[in-house]
Formats: sequence, C-alpha cells, structure tokens
Amino acid sequence: MQSVFRGKHLITLQEWTKEEIDTILDVSFDLKRKFATGEQTNYLQGQSMFLMFFEQSTRTRNSMEAGFSQLGGHANYLDTSTMQISHGESAKDTAVILSRMGHAIACRNCFWGVGNKYLREMAANSSVPIMNLQCDLYHPMQGLADLMTMKEKLGDVRRKKVSIIWAYATSHKKPISVPLTQVLLFPRYGMDVWLAYPEGYDLPEWAIEQARENAEKHGGTLTITHNMEEAYKDADVVIPKNWGSWVTNQSTAVVDDLLESYRSWKCTEEIMALTKGNSIYMHALPADRGNEVEDSVIDGSHSVVYDEAENRLHTAKAVMLLTMGGK
Ligand code: CP
Repeated sequence: MQSVFRGKHLITLQEWTKEEIDTILDVSFDLKRKFATGEQTNYLQGQSMFLMFFEQSTRTRNSMEAGFSQLGGHANYLDTSTMQISHGESAKDTAVILSRMGHAIACRNCFWGVGNKYLREMAANSSVPIMNLQCDLYHPMQGLADLMTMKEKLGDVRRKKVSIIWAYATSHKKPISVPLTQVLLFPRYGMDVWLAYPEGYDLPEWAIEQARENAEKHGGTLTITHNMEEAYKDADVVIPKNWGSWVTNQSTAVVDDLLESYRSWKCTEEIMALTKGNSIYMHALPADRGNEVEDSVIDGSHSVVYDEAENRLHTAKAVMLLTMGGK
C-alpha cells in the first residue's frame, strides 16, 4: 500500500501508479463504511479549499463540497464567470493567489484544447494540490468512482468484458474525458475492455496507444469495434454514453448530420438482452434519457447508476484526505 500522497496533484490517473490508485480505493471503502455508520471523519478540520467551475455540475460539485465538509473543512464554490478570470486573469496568478489562501484547489475546465493545459498551468504554479474535476481530456474523479462501483458489484474485475459504448444524445456536445479516462484505467485492472463507436467519434490515437500499453502491461485487453451489438454481446459491464466528435470536428454545434445518422446507437432493453444475465449498466450521469438510454434500462434491474453516483462522494473524499492530510 502506498502511503505518501500529501501535496500530490491529480490531473490524470495515468500519472498515478496502480498502487496509489489501490490505496485511494481502499480509503474510499473505509470512508464509505464510516459514512454508513455515522462515524466522524473530520480529519481536515480548519482546512480550506477552492472549487473552480467553468461549467455546470451536479455530482462533482456536491461530492467535493459535501465531502470536504464531512472531512471537517470548508470548500469555497467559485463560478469562474464571477472571478477575474472572466477579465483575463491568468491561470498562474489565480493558482498562486488561491494556493496562498487555502490548502487545495480543484477545477473543472472542459474547453477543448484548453482545459487540460489550464490545469497543468495551475499545477505548475500552485503550492497546494490541484485536483482535476474534469477537463477536455480526463475525468479522474469519475474513473475512481467507476472502478469502485465495479469492484463492489463484480468483486474480481479481471478478465471481465467491460464495454464503453458511444450513445446518441442531443443535450450538449459532451467532452471525451469520461471514455478516455475509462479506456486508460480499466485495462490496468486486467479487464477485457471493448470500445465501440460509430465512424467520426474516435478518441485520440495517443490515448488508444497508451491504453494498449496499459493492457499489455497489466494483463487486460482492448478491442475497438464500430459494431454496437458486438460490444453488448456477453458483456459483464456496459457503459453506453455519448461523447462529442471533438477529435475530428472542433465545432461546438451540438447536433449535426453525423450525429443524426447514429440515432440507433441507443441502449435499449432489446440490446441489453445480448449481455450476460447479471450484467451491470453504468453511466457517469447526467443521462440523456430517451436518446442515450431507454428509461426501462436506466431504471431497470441492470442499472447501478445511483450507486455509481454515490461513490463519487467516497472516492472524492479519499482523494482530498490523502492529498491534503496524511503523511
Ligand atoms: N458525472 C459528472 O461529472 O457529473 P456532473 O457533471 O454533474 O458533475
């Protein structure tokens, strides 16, 4: 077990060792048990942190804000449109100033080609941990909650068929950060990962190459297909979720002809029947109900989405506790 985390930035899980991620999960399970039994966990009493959001959030904001309060600290929620960032103040100046006033900074910035660079600029200039609450490329907090949920539901996750499947949605042009995080992370746990998407919705080639290296090193596999049925067939876990065509088309338009040509990429009861009988359906949420997934699936017996969402709390608390407290 790894025990030295204090001061560590979390920009992507790819930069954390498997041993470190295992420790995060171990602490998450411990904090979940304490949450269930009402045991006090105010290990970070007197600490302050800043939560900067360039975009909307339900799960991420509240898992961080409630989680930090349960750890005894106070989190300032910062809508960046009300900060001097909106008048052009730099990531460097923002990071230096906030890190002098508190104990950690967490930030969501999903603008394509901007978000990850922004977080790295903050990390280069901050004297306290920087936590990525989702950028254009990564969503490490979601990846941790997904992994925790799979371990809870499946036990041993090695050699399980886990299918990350593109789905049709019109709610907004979603970042690629959730599937990219999953495709990098899951092969490190020996899973047989399938990535299914229609032409035009590729993930970056460097990420696929890294995912293949992760699979080779840790005994998992990565299979890419443009055939949705193939990904559902005999799957233990399905994660049908929309992402935008950012790699091939940087327009911010939500609906275009390409998207409309793939309306059939929906998770239905009929297609779920191809999966194993005890398979689980996961989604980071929010789901575009009726487009990405039928209500009867997301509300049905395979779905674990609310447990997955709750695990955002426990994993976020573990990240805060280990990077801000401890050794
Ligand atoms: N899954 C997720 O990050 O949800 P929010 O956008 O509501 O934070």
